[in-house]
Amino acid sequence: MKGVVLAGGLGSRLYPLTKITNKHLLPVFNKPMIYYPIQCLVNAGITDILIVTGGNSAGHFLQLLRNGSDFGLARLSYAYQEGEGGIADALKLAEAFAEGDSICVVLGDNIIEGNIKKAADDFRAQVAGGGGAKIMLKEVHDPERFGVATVQDGKVVEIVEKPKQPKSNLAVIGIYMYDPSVFEICRDLKPSSRGELEITDVNNEYLRRGQLTCEVLQGWWTDAGTFESLYRSAALVRESGANRMDV
Ligand code: DAU
Repeated sequence: MKGVVLAGGLGSRLYPLTKITNKHLLPVFNKPMIYYPIQCLVNAGITDILIVTGGNSAGHFLQLLRNGSDFGLARLSYAYQEGEGGIADALKLAEAFAEGDSICVVLGDNIIEGNIKKAADDFRAQVAGGGGAKIMLKEVHDPERFGVATVQDGKVVEIVEKPKQPKSNLAVIGIYMYDPSVFEICRDLKPSSRGELEITDVNNEYLRRGQLTCEVLQGWWTDAGTFESLYRSAALVRESGANRMDV
C-alpha cells in the first residue's frame, strides 16, 4: 500500500497565518505540521509517499522534506493542486502515483497520538479478500465540524458532512484507505454546495456498494486547521510526548 498526504487548499480559516505560507508548514509544537501525517504513514509501514500540495510556498515542501530520507522513506513524490477544489479533487492527482495499488490517504492537518498499523494490516487483508475502503472514527464533542458517521452493529450506515444536527458524535477522521477503484469514483463526483469535491461523497459511494469498513481510533486525534485546534494540537503533542519525532 502506498501513502498520500493531502496538503493543498488555501488554509483560509487560519488567515493571516496562511497569507504567505502554507498551513502544513506551520509549527505544531516542535515540528512542521506536515511531519505528523508523514510519520503516521511511516509508523504503519508505508514508505512510498506522495505529497499533494498547492497554494502558497509549494516549493518549500521540497526544501523541507527533500527526498524523505529523514523519515526513512523509500520514495517521496510531489504533486501540485491548482485552486482549492476539495479533498477528493486533490486525491485525483494521486492516480498516476498509485499505479493500481491501494492507498492510505492522510489529511495534512490531521494528527494522532497512536498508530494505524493494525487498521492498515486489516485493510491489506480486506483488499486481498475483495477490496473496498476503510475509514477511521473518533468520538468528539463537536461533531458538526466534521464528517459524521452513524454506526449500527459495528457497521457504518450513513455519513453526513458537517451536519447541523449530528446523529452521533463519531467523527470520520482524515485517514482513509482505498482500493484502486477510488479514482473511478472521484471522476464521477459533482461539486457540493460549498463548491468542493467531497471525500464524504467518496466514502458514501463505497458504503452504497457495501464495501466500507470502519475502525475506531485509539488515543487522541485532532485536526489543526483552526486557531483553536492548532493551539490544541501543539498542547497535545507537547503533553503526551507520544508522537515526538527524532527527525
Ligand atoms: O479533519 C477531518 C475532516 O476533514 C473530516 O471529518 C471531513 O469529513 C473532511 O471533509 C475534512 O473536513 P475539513 O473541512 O476540516 O477539511 P479542510 O477543508 O480543512 O481540509 C483538510 C485538509 O485537506 C487540508 O489540510 C489539506 C487537504 N485539502 C483540502 C482542500 C479543501 C487539499 O489537499 N485540497 C483541498 O482543496
